[in-house]
Amino acid sequence: MPNPVSRRTFLGAAAGGAAASVAPRSVDAAERHLPVRLEKPLRVESLSTPALLIDLAAFESNLAKMAESLKARGVGLRPHAKTHKCPVIAHKQFELGAIGICCAKVSEAEVMTDAGINDILITSPVVTKEKIDRVIACAKRIGHLQMVVDNTKTAQDFNDAAAAAGIVLSVIIDLDTGTRRTGIAHGEPALGLGQLIAKLPALKFEGLQAYAGQIMHVKGYEKRKARSEETIAKAVDTRALFEKNGLEVAVLSGGGTGTFDVDSNIEGITDIQAGSYPFMDLQYRAIGDSNSDVYDYFDPSLFVLSTAISKPVEQLITFDAGYKSFSTDAMNPEFRNVTGVVYHWGGDEHGMVQLKEPSQPIALGDKFELMVPHCDPTVNLYDYYHPYREGMVHELWPIAARGRSQ
Ligand SMILES: Cc1ncc(COP(=O)(O)O)c(C=O)c1O
Repeated sequence: MPNPVSRRTFLGAAAGGAAASVAPRSVDAAERHLPVRLEKPLRVESLSTPALLIDLAAFESNLAKMAESLKARGVGLRPHAKTHKCPVIAHKQFELGAIGICCAKVSEAEVMTDAGINDILITSPVVTKEKIDRVIACAKRIGHLQMVVDNTKTAQDFNDAAAAAGIVLSVIIDLDTGTRRTGIAHGEPALGLGQLIAKLPALKFEGLQAYAGQIMHVKGYEKRKARSEETIAKAVDTRALFEKNGLEVAVLSGGGTGTFDVDSNIEGITDIQAGSYPFMDLQYRAIGDSNSDVYDYFDPSLFVLSTAISKPVEQLITFDAGYKSFSTDAMNPEFRNVTGVVYHWGGDEHGMVQLKEPSQPIALGDKFELMVPHCDPTVNLYDYYHPYREGMVHELWPIAARGRSQ
């Protein structure tokens, strides 16, 4: 696995030491997977806002906690790159022992393939010839690509495309865990598909995917645990049925940030596909964990830096980050270090912050970190991360798969 080497530097500070817009206008496609080193490190407060920040202390602790926790249980970590969309972060996950990464979409997998990632599971089905051909093209370029399938026609189509390309494609059957979103039913329907795949010469059956997205945000640890155990038990039964019928199931991949500590204890699960754990978000904090009402085993590390820009009335102050700076599918953003204030959406570009009893003064021009409601779709709004340590940004990490939802 090649390590990302910073080959590009960028002059961070504007002439005369003025506040800098740190983002380079463009980064060559061939270098989007590399950190962009700043010639002169910048203080977080000098960044042009809105800016997406990573607090490296929290981020690194989250990466290490997940890696160590799964290592201790003898279960593989295959982090989902749909969350960060960033090859620099994927490489860091490999350095800590990840067995591969997941990608949600073919275009994400293409970016990760370009970045030298050698082991990818694509977790969403595709059916069109154009996408099938793109999957095969990625598979030809890397050591190990697994593709999910959930129906016989697509399995046949993948077999034909792989045969035409002269390769054998690794295939995982996507099980419908109750999401009713993708996947084939457990038991006999899945077995029938497995038996077909085993007979197709250009496909190699490798196992099952059982990701239960509907359970990840169930509030209350015991309730979530019970639902996940019940759901994963069906996948484990299906696994047993396959093996009874002579089909080896090398992989049973599932689990996410909300259930990793439950699913990784279940006999038969081989890989955990957690995505959000490096960053966490408000939605995940609200579900609670085994010790507390707040899920704080992982710390929030992803923030949007925003500036107070107007104060038309006494009790409100307007910030420069609105719908275009945060995902809007969950709750509202919250300040990291200020209490007694409430963020309300103020439109595409603005957040209107109600000053109830602010724990510190907020003046025009002040910049604050806000916690994000939902990390994945927030990340998809930005070109770069600004990772910082002790208040200083030394490099930018391109979000190379940003907007890659094809
Ligand atoms: C198939 C699949 N696996 C894993 C994940 C990662 O989940 P989380 O971010 O909850 O860890 C997702 C997230 O949506 C997913 O769709």
